[in-house]
Amino acid sequence: MPCYKRFAVAGASGTVGTHFLHAFERSPHGYDVTILTRKTGGNELFAHEWKKRGAKVHEVDYENEADLVRALNGIDVLISTVGAPGFHLQVPLVKAAKKAGVKLYVNSHWGSPLTAADLPELAALDELRNAPLRAAEEVGLPWVEFRTGSFPECCFPIPLFGLADLKHRRATIYGDGNAQNSWTTQADVARYVLHILRHISPQDIKNRRFNIQGDLKSWNEIVKLYEKKYPGSAVEEVYRPLAELEDKAENGQGVEAFHSSLMLAMVTGKAKHNQETLDNKEFPEWHPMGVVDVL
Ligand SMILES: NC(=O)c1ccc[n+]([C@@H]2O[C@H](COP(=O)([O-])OP(=O)(O)OC[C@H]3O[C@@H](n4cnc5c(N)ncnc54)[C@H](OP(=O)(O)O)[C@@H]3O)[C@@H](O)[C@H]2O)c1
Repeated sequence: MPCYKRFAVAGASGTVGTHFLHAFERSPHGYDVTILTRKTGGNELFAHEWKKRGAKVHEVDYENEADLVRALNGIDVLISTVGAPGFHLQVPLVKAAKKAGVKLYVNSHWGSPLTAADLPELAALDELRNAPLRAAEEVGLPWVEFRTGSFPECCFPIPLFGLADLKHRRATIYGDGNAQNSWTTQADVARYVLHILRHISPQDIKNRRFNIQGDLKSWNEIVKLYEKKYPGSAVEEVYRPLAELEDKAENGQGVEAFHSSLMLAMVTGKAKHNQETLDNKEFPEWHPMGVVDVL
């Protein structure tokens, strides 16, 4: 008998959150899900649409504890899918969750296993990602985090990743293109998480980081897969020196600098999972999609 029956998704209007809502909808187990969305600054159309579909939608003020406690009352598991600009809101969310009797908090990580120890540029993000976990431990609320590798469907359209132009049979590859990266689609992430929450005991979930990977592929392998999937002329591969990324990471501004340092880690194989510590085995029937499926 599963321990968790009632779920809430915070930040559900975002890309990851929406995949969770669809996974709950598709699940044969008839999950009970509540959506938390911001009262101000949120996506009103999203709230309206999901209400129309019969979903329980709470428009909340993250600064108002009573509001959050009311919305989370009776919830067993709070899944946070808030985006980085809202990471700080997870601390009050965690405190309210404990007051409301929530049994498990799922932190918004959903990324590669890289930490500031591997990549100093991640220090500020790491701090924001870890603060809710510290808050959860302080109030005695069990937490769990899923480190998923990169989402191919999010990364590939970004020009910096070099694969956005594949349909014009052109790819930009930094370095030699042979280093592999861990990839998992968001739909597979949501399916995996729902499985864990249903089948793994709370003691085995508590304060744990699950490392999951749908596929392990290098840039060169992805180009070959594309050529095989869409036969035609060869894809023109333009190889760029890693020094270009290093320069952007060091001298670029804001998002460009951050993405460049992340990209540098990915194309040199630093962002991939240790294959020996993967938790895919916790869901033997998972069979996640490969990168080829989203090309
Ligand atoms: N592995 C990867 O390749 C990858 C790629 C992208 C993201 N991620 C991770 O996935 C998680 C979610 O990312 P995402 O791209 O889905 O996020 P997103 O779309 O930018 O935002 C998700 C939701 O967060 C809520 N939110 C709360 N406070 C906010 C604020 N101050 N500003 C903006 N949004 C706020 C919003 O929901 P409401 O308006 O409904 O409240 C928003 O729709 C993050 O942990 C991120 O690091 C991983």
